[in-house]
Amino acid sequence: MTKQYKQLRENKVTPEKHFWNRRSFIQAMGLGSVSLLSLPKSALAVQAGFPSEKNPDYNDSFDGLTKEELVTNYNNFYEFSTDKKEVAEIVQDWNQPPETLEVSGMVHQPQTFGAEELAKIFGLEQRIYRFRCVEAWSMVVPWDGFPLRKLLDRVKPMGSAKYVKFTSFLDPESAPGQQRDYYPWPYVEGLRLDEAMNDLTLLVGGVYGKPLPKQNGSPWRLIVPWKYGFKSIKSIVRIELTDTMPTSLWMAAGPSEYGFYANVNPEVDHPRWSQKRERPLGNWFGKIDTLMFNGYTDQVAHLYQGMDLKRFY
Ligand code: MTE
Repeated sequence: MTKQYKQLRENKVTPEKHFWNRRSFIQAMGLGSVSLLSLPKSALAVQAGFPSEKNPDYNDSFDGLTKEELVTNYNNFYEFSTDKKEVAEIVQDWNQPPETLEVSGMVHQPQTFGAEELAKIFGLEQRIYRFRCVEAWSMVVPWDGFPLRKLLDRVKPMGSAKYVKFTSFLDPESAPGQQRDYYPWPYVEGLRLDEAMNDLTLLVGGVYGKPLPKQNGSPWRLIVPWKYGFKSIKSIVRIELTDTMPTSLWMAAGPSEYGFYANVNPEVDHPRWSQKRERPLGNWFGKIDTLMFNGYTDQVAHLYQGMDLKRFY
């Protein structure tokens, strides 16, 4: 497969080349790279079960969608590189193992799903969400996924479960960033169970109506739009319900800078920069005001009633 990636890369097929190279997508369709190149993109998307149903409740494009090329070529994925512009290229050599998602811990019916199964079982819907990185850039993206609540309901959380822990893959051999132990790999994130059950919290397997490219966290990632982007963990292999607050990679790596909640809040600055404004991707000179909970106050403020939002960052 690595050879095929290289071949396609040299041909510079389209800006979406990374997506069309997806191994599991090709396998799912039982096609080789030659036939992929000869089929129109729309036909491919339909055959793979995409695009998903647009959810009209989440179709507000705010100041306009971010260009697809930017979303798929400007990435934070530290397992591969800390240079956002080089991730999309480097990640192509990632030898992604057979893709499964284990859901376990404090649940009555633990289950391991094949990555290809999830869209079939839970369906896919497209939602346009704002996304705000803690580094003060932002984007507006049509994600294809389903509410995480559907998956959690299926495994039946125990009454004692209070938190959900998400773990990404560990593969230092083909993820060069994991060869440096500067960060405590694998990437881990966590949510309180009620945050995880909130309707906004999505498990995402596609973007722009196509399967998620590797650089955006294939096969499945989390999207939590009212929290800083680092909470939206990519390439998840395990979801565990627990009664203990999980320690995320960023809490372990920089406890004075990154907390568990990480709700977007223009009133609480990062210790090294202001969070009042943000730079939308593609708009290199203009900045816009950052909104409390990234604009999702109505849907999530009730989760934090009684908490001092300045303290629980
Ligand atoms: N998930 C993993 N496994 N590794 C990462 O480095 N980076 C996070 C988040 N999820 C990251 C991750 C950060 S800091 C951001 S801003 C978003 O992914 C970026 O997602 P994108 O590349 O799709 O824009």
